[in-house]
Formats: sequence, C-alpha cells, structure tokens
Amino acid sequence: MKNLQTAVLSLVLAGLVSPAAMAQLPELGSPSSISGAPTTARFFGGASADNGSSFASSFGYDQAIDVDTEIQVESSHVNTMGNLYVFIVWDGLYFQRVESGDYEIWDLSLPNLQAAFPAKTLQASEPINIVNDVAFGPAGVSDTTLAIFLAYDSMAAPGEIFYSGAPLSVAIESEQTTAASLQLYVDTISSPIIQAKCIICHQVGGVATDSALHYVNSGVANFQTTNYNTLVNYIKNVPNGSSEILSRPQGMNHTGGVQLTPSSQDFLNLQAFVNQVLAE
Ligand code: HEC
Repeated sequence: MKNLQTAVLSLVLAGLVSPAAMAQLPELGSPSSISGAPTTARFFGGASADNGSSFASSFGYDQAIDVDTEIQVESSHVNTMGNLYVFIVWDGLYFQRVESGDYEIWDLSLPNLQAAFPAKTLQASEPINIVNDVAFGPAGVSDTTLAIFLAYDSMAAPGEIFYSGAPLSVAIESEQTTAASLQLYVDTISSPIIQAKCIICHQVGGVATDSALHYVNSGVANFQTTNYNTLVNYIKNVPNGSSEILSRPQGMNHTGGVQLTPSSQDFLNLQAFVNQVLAE
C-alpha cells in the first residue's frame, strides 16, 4: 500500500512547472518554527480548477487542477543558503518531495528529512508549483483530503526550521457513478422515444397537458436529467405508474393512440428501462 501510494503520488506530482500568472495565493495560517520562536516567514498555497483565477478546497474526481505554493522567507534569510521542503499528508502517511520531484514516505524523523530544493540561495519569494492540470481521481487519489505543508531552513539560523503550521488542504471527491437507469435513459430512451414520440403531446400546453407526464424539449438546459427525473418519479411514485408507462403507449386507454408496438426495439428498451428503475 505504501509503495503504491508513493508510486501514484510521484506519478501524479512529477515535474516542476513554472507558475502561470494567477491571483494572489491564499496565505496559510500559523507560520511556525521548530524552536517555537516567532517567525516573520510567510507561506501561501492555493488549488485551482481555472488556472489560478480562483481557489477552492474541494474538487471533483476528474477535475484537472493546479496546486501552487509560495514561501516568503524572513528578510534576514534572503540571499542566504538554505533548503526548501514540501510535505504531503495523504491518508495519514507523510510524503516528502525529494530533489528529483518524486515523493517518498517520510517517517517524521529529522535525519531522514530530504529537501525538495536543497542548498539554494533563498529568494524573498520562492514559488513552488505542486501540480499543473492534474486530475487526481483517475490517477488513483480520490475520496480523500491532501494536506500540503511547506518548510525551509537557512544557514543563517542553524538547527531551525520554519514551516506552515496550517496546511493547504485539497479535498478530492469520490467518483460519481451514473445510475445505470440514467445511462439507459440517455442511450436508448431520450431521443428515440421521449423526444421523437411523446413530447409532442406530453408537454405543458400540449394535448396531454392534463396528464401527469410533461417533458421539456432538447433546447432546455439539463433536459435529459429533467425528463429522466419526471419518468422515474412517475414509475416509482404514481400508482400503477410502472405498468401505465408501458401499456398506454401501446394504445391501451391512451388518447395518444399507439406510439410503440410491443415487438419494437423502442418498446423493449422502455421495458428494460422501467425494470432498471424498479431495481435501483
Ligand atoms: C398524440 C398525443 C400523444 C402522444 C404522441 C403521446 N401521448 Fe401519452 N397521453 C396523451 C394524452 C392526451 C394523455 C392523457 C389522456 C389519456 O390518459 O389518454 C396521455 C396519457 C399518457 C399516460 C398516462 C399519464 C397519467 O396521467 O397517468 C402515459 C403513461 C402516456 N400517455 C405515455 C405516453 C408515452 C410513453 C408516449 C410516447 C411513446 C406518449 N404517451 C405519447 C397523448 C399523447
């Protein structure tokens, strides 16, 4: 599990890309030092699905996001030699970014600490891109929250490490699976049956305006989900709905006459759809 997580993180997060123009990154709270002494160092970080125009803390399973951070070192540390560190806590495990850009498990011991950017001359602002346009879910990271911490040290303050006490939190939602009945609806019911054969009467103001079934046409936003919900509600909640929806279009007790013959593929598809809705 640990090796798998390491491999996945390295794969997902590999590569340092120079940050594009973006809004000011949010500041991370509680800048701290391991000695407990106060610090004027500042840490920033943000995750964005719109290339840095806005930042959020939670993202969809397959949403491509950028994660950018920045360390502003204490002014007395500018132009001194130091190290920059990046840590990611994922499902209770600590990963540290190493010089290659890969992430390795870190056991939280100082001797095993590795710098992401070792032995560099510290600048007043140190931007660090964590990922660029990566969708975490498909890469194996989902239904979880990543906590990203930043740190640095300087030869001007031997033995001291400055770090963001509060992490940048990035939640990746779990995969939303489409209900099988919705998939059937979109694939086999929406265009050939509802839009082609029913909606002409079954809409507000249509011949069937007084019936319990009104659909919206394909020019309306989200028409498929709207009509799917209408049908599911009819099948599940209207008395005899699950049989009426199949008998009426065969012409039984239907002012609209015969719209589907029992042997037609459309009728079989409608039957399969109804069965699926009842099964879910
Ligand atoms: C030519 C017009 C017309 C068409 C096309 C039409 N219907 Fe109807 N339908 C009606 C009318 C009018 C009613 C209400 C009066 C009635 O029950 O006959 C109705 C009622 C229904 C009802 C009962 C609704 C309730 O209130 O419980 C169902 C179910 C139904 N239709 C299914 C369909 C299906 C499925 C299609 C497409 C395959 C379809 N209809 C196409 C005119 C139509």
